[in-house]
Amino acid sequence: MKKLFIKTYGCQMNAYDSARMAELLAPLGYAPAAEADGADMVILNTCHIREKATEKVYSELGRLKALKRAKPNMLVAVAGCTAQAEGAEIVTRAPVVDLVVGPQSYHRLPEMIARAARQAGHVLEGDFPALEKFDVIEALGPQQSDSGVSAFLTVQEGCDKFCTFCVVPYTRGPEHSRPPERIIAEARRLGARGAREIVLLGQNVNAYRGTAEDGKTWNLARLLQAIAAIKDVSRIRYTTSHPRDMDDDLIAAHGANPKLMPMLHLPVQSGSDTVLAAMNRQHTAEDYLALIERLRSSRPDIAFSSDFIVGFPGESDADFEATLALVRHVKFAQCFSFKYSPRPGTPAAAAKKLVAESVKIERLLALQALLLEQQDEANRAAIGKTLAVLFEKPGREKGQLVGRSPYLQPVHVAGGRDLIGRIANVKIAKLTANSLHGALRETLSA
Ligand code: 5AD
Ligand code: SF4
Repeated sequence: MKKLFIKTYGCQMNAYDSARMAELLAPLGYAPAAEADGADMVILNTCHIREKATEKVYSELGRLKALKRAKPNMLVAVAGCTAQAEGAEIVTRAPVVDLVVGPQSYHRLPEMIARAARQAGHVLEGDFPALEKFDVIEALGPQQSDSGVSAFLTVQEGCDKFCTFCVVPYTRGPEHSRPPERIIAEARRLGARGAREIVLLGQNVNAYRGTAEDGKTWNLARLLQAIAAIKDVSRIRYTTSHPRDMDDDLIAAHGANPKLMPMLHLPVQSGSDTVLAAMNRQHTAEDYLALIERLRSSRPDIAFSSDFIVGFPGESDADFEATLALVRHVKFAQCFSFKYSPRPGTPAAAAKKLVAESVKIERLLALQALLLEQQDEANRAAIGKTLAVLFEKPGREKGQLVGRSPYLQPVHVAGGRDLIGRIANVKIAKLTANSLHGALRETLSA
């Protein structure tokens, strides 16, 4: 057996893609390895969303240089969004790289490896043949790596929104939805292999528009309903959504579909209409707040998470205050916040009115303090309540189990391993850092 080490950066879609790459290479005799040292092939599945993410890849490539010196026939591949965005530039900057493959063409890895063995130099692939990729992936059939309690399932890729700060429309290409029948078949397969929770993935997942075999178009609400009909699947989540694509059907689904978990990741980025317009977000702060209200009417116990960017070009103190005001209004359960980072090729990167780094840092700290307060409040509110927990794995301590609440909070209990893959009620007793601890009550699922 040859050893394959894959290092995954960035989002959940990359995690899904890394698992598929491992499956693609298994027939070539590659077995997963835990580290790059001694591996026959190393794949860095990269993220390009912020400068920091990209820089991490180059420093890892620097470290790989020494390993390759010790083992010259080791293959080094760069996959993912940095591969797509930078292409041949990567091999110029890091000659240690043998293969560069974009996120829509990694199904060609086996032939690329063969080509690399035949020819000297580097092999590059950066097309967007999205359908072809899924055809190849589906032909692989059920896989060992599909055996987790919570499983990712890509239903949609790419983005047509073109927010002015974002590289995704360039690295992942135009929006493309997989046909519903294929997704349902994959969800069934995952359920049969033990997945109790399915997380539907898409860069713009709620823009899902799948064409069924009868030529009809399905939206995400219809797809969710079909997946909820699968007996093995107890919980469904989807991420990431754009506020503009939250349609009536999807809002109603939150009230009607008990398998749909009451936690929604809905990035807003800013609370200032001026900044939102400059970002080309296609919604105002008021639109966003109205949407939150509608979702809360549909599902009163729903919680929200979001993404924020501070220090976008031109962001004034008043704009930033508007962001804080929006956060205070919504009360989020969990959020991600970032300093604006100019990305090559995006419209915002050409902006002149930049926010000073010191101001960015100040704003980020202020926002994160508020978000953390809200997260803590949401977690503390769970104490004394009984929550349905889906158990995923043993905890670090002996006899301990870890699962997740409907709100994605990690929950620790004392219990037997037979509970893994099952849902049980837990009476929450305390909160440590970001984890809840409690005692088992009745088991809810077989
Ligand atoms: N700078 C900082 N943050 C960014 N994001 C996307 N592009 C940038 C950028 N250029 C953030 C957004 C997005 C999340 C995945 O990353 O908040 O929702
Ligand atoms: Fe990027 Fe905006 Fe598309 Fe999200 S919706 S992937 S932030 S362009």
